[in-house]
Amino acid sequence: MRREITTHSPEETMAFGRSLTELLAPPKLVLLCGELGAGKTTLVKGIAAAFEAAAEEDVTSPTFTLVHEYRGPRVVVYHIDLYRVDTARELETLGLDDLRSDNSILLIEWGEKFPRFHNERDLEIGLERTNQSDRRIQLKD
Ligand SMILES: Nc1ncnc2c1ncn2[C@@H]1O[C@H](COP(=O)(O)OP(=O)(O)OP(=O)(O)O)[C@@H](O)[C@H]1O
Ligand SMILES: [Mg+2]
Repeated sequence: MRREITTHSPEETMAFGRSLTELLAPPKLVLLCGELGAGKTTLVKGIAAAFEAAAEEDVTSPTFTLVHEYRGPRVVVYHIDLYRVDTARELETLGLDDLRSDNSILLIEWGEKFPRFHNERDLEIGLERTNQSDRRIQLKD
């Protein structure tokens, strides 16, 4: 497992996601940080697949539903997209606290907008588009 990597395709980003199972052993709350199209959802595909919670092609962006749940044999992966959530009050209605449990992993896109997650997060994964097909991915405790 590497703390920093540059990937050159979506497939490589998914493969990196698959390599993170040990680091992401539940319970975890993880912020996925990076601009639109940085590859956050692509990374979740690999993570969900590694925990046998979903096939990569079945993981799609929770843009409108805000929360997607993928159940694996030992782990539940929640993929959350807060891009369209603007206030702490709206955030509260999502009830994310209820999703936290001994076997859950919360992977949150755009969570850094909310100060509470800066304290609550176990890990931050930063993704940066360095060109059309290259993404720099960094793990930050
Ligand atoms: N090395 C790479 N890693 C990941 N995605 C890549 C890479 N190279 C190109 N791409 C493309 O970049 C896009 C990444 O989209 P993705 O939905 O994962 O981004 P996102 O960070 O979740 O964006 P959003 O904030 O809009 O949800 C995809 O179209 C993917 O094919
Ligand atoms: Mg996304």
